[in-house]
Amino acid sequence: FSKHGIFVERTLALVKPDAINKADEIETIILKHGFTVLEKRRITLTAEQCSDFYSEHYGKKFFPSLVAFMTSAPVVAMVLAKENAIQQWRDLIGPTNSNVAKETHPDSSIRALFGTNEQKNAVHGSDSAVSAEREIRFFFPNCVVEPIPTGPPATDY
Ligand code: PPS
Repeated sequence: FSKHGIFVERTLALVKPDAINKADEIETIILKHGFTVLEKRRITLTAEQCSDFYSEHYGKKFFPSLVAFMTSAPVVAMVLAKENAIQQWRDLIGPTNSNVAKETHPDSSIRALFGTNEQKNAVHGSDSAVSAEREIRFFFPNCVVEPIPTGPPATDY
């Protein structure tokens, strides 16, 4: 919760290898849209880390090429905070396939502006609260969620 009592949600954003040279430009867009960048880390994933991160896609036809792509250069992982951050970030990045994004949201979608196709799509965003927490923990194990206060605040004597 923010100091004003508004629920501030968190999500994980990844700048993928195809857009790594645009990471600063993408961060500027993120800030312009009112997100706070709580954490940021640049990392080259190993195949094992990448398979773990994308484990829900294990067994799909595109999985080996997804791992090859995602390990081909560094990624930038960021924890973004904003009211309704998960949906807001997904709206800002646009459809998974950058070719579709270019048709439907040519000027506003980050995937339209910086991506190429369904694999080289510039950025990732968590798709639910459960995956956001898992993905944040994956890149930032020390970024723990503060427990929601249940009773009156403790009083100092
Ligand atoms: S699916 O098919 O519904 O599971 O796809 P989706 O949940 O939209 O996202 C799949 C992620 O894998 C990446 N990727 C591909 N998707 C579909 N087809 C191909 N060929 C492919 N190659 C890679 C895609 O970019 C999605 O990555 P994220 O990081 O979630 O955006």
